[in-house]
Amino acid sequence: MTSTRIQPATTAPGRALGPDRGPGLDPGPHSALDPAAIRAAVDQRLQDFLDTKRRTAGDPLLASLTDHVRAFVMTGGKRVRPLLCVVGWHAAQGYGDMGPVITTAASLELFHAFALIHDDLMDGSDLRRGRPTVHRALAATHPGHDEPTPAERFGVNGAVLVGDLVMVWSDEMLHTSGLHHRQLAAVRPLLDAMRTEVMIGQYRDLLTTGRPTENLESALTVIRYKTAKYTVERPLHIGAAVAGADRHLLDTCTAYAIPIGEAFQLRDDLLGVFGDPRRTGKSTLDDLREGKATVLMAHALRRSTPRQAQTLRTLVGDPGLDEGGAAVVRELLRVTGAADRVEAMIRARVDLARQTLDEAAFPDEVKSLLDTFATTAALRTS
Ligand code: IPE
Ligand code: IPE
Ligand code: MG
Ligand code: MG
Repeated sequence: MTSTRIQPATTAPGRALGPDRGPGLDPGPHSALDPAAIRAAVDQRLQDFLDTKRRTAGDPLLASLTDHVRAFVMTGGKRVRPLLCVVGWHAAQGYGDMGPVITTAASLELFHAFALIHDDLMDGSDLRRGRPTVHRALAATHPGHDEPTPAERFGVNGAVLVGDLVMVWSDEMLHTSGLHHRQLAAVRPLLDAMRTEVMIGQYRDLLTTGRPTENLESALTVIRYKTAKYTVERPLHIGAAVAGADRHLLDTCTAYAIPIGEAFQLRDDLLGVFGDPRRTGKSTLDDLREGKATVLMAHALRRSTPRQAQTLRTLVGDPGLDEGGAAVVRELLRVTGAADRVEAMIRARVDLARQTLDEAAFPDEVKSLLDTFATTAALRTS
């Protein structure tokens, strides 16, 4: 496995650091908080891990499943969660060998891959990161692909397994990361919470999909659980816990993370309807056809005339919705002011997170990176 140094180690390589840091050791310089370097290191770790899995697969069927995992994980993704995990470690003034921290961060990307593969099944999405989703790719490999039903079923069931496999590998990656057992003990409850939160969020999403309502609170609860926590809050927590963070520091991370995680998904909801599929790699019809009960839709229903609401209720949730129908919905989302309301909610959340950063006892470089991340999460186009 390639060794990774984002910043010079202040102790012998491989030594576990964080909760058991020794007295008198200087924290390392924080000047190495470079997102591109972190991303490259995480990618290298993912590549090494998956290449080893492929090489040692033995069984050709496992090798083939591994190829699906590799194709999904290594051909796209912004790597937001690994980056934030490393930032969390810096926020808590972690120091020393970065190797185990990078591997921990990379393991979160494998968990994310699991979440996306299953999410695409649940949402019936055909496109992810500009390519066919895993269930679609698997269906295309089915020998009977000229018979739509068996191939589709094969794709769905196969993608359940690929998702399960990558979730298990995420766990394996963490366990073999080289973290000290005390660091693992600090991370475990946060990881357990993260995984449970995503499931609850996705279940809430499932329960509300197909029946968009005016209920803003419900739509916000969905995005807090299905996205904000596992995308921003828990990655920061996990990185910080590796560095031995106390409760107060974790709470400061939360105060930044929840608004920014919500802003991230509010932007996702706007991109899901108004975005450019060439940039997002996702369809702009999925959410509308499924009838996603988004914050955007709740605003639109609250601000519609009875006639407009009737049109929305007819079109949104129609699995056969075409581009013409989608254009009508987009226009209603604009004229009701719903899209503007969501933009305002995003701005308010960025402001709130910035207030937290102003007062946070984080190193300056961490504050600067989290400030940039807030803008990126809020204004991203992909
Ligand atoms: C997509 O997450 C799912 C959401 C929680 C909105 P990302 O936007 O981080 O997806 P990738 O990894 O960059 O494809
Ligand atoms: C994705 O939510 C959340 C998780 C993967 C847990 P969405 O279904 O809203 O996101 P996209 O649009 O498919 O990425
Ligand atoms: Mg989806
Ligand atoms: Mg979904």
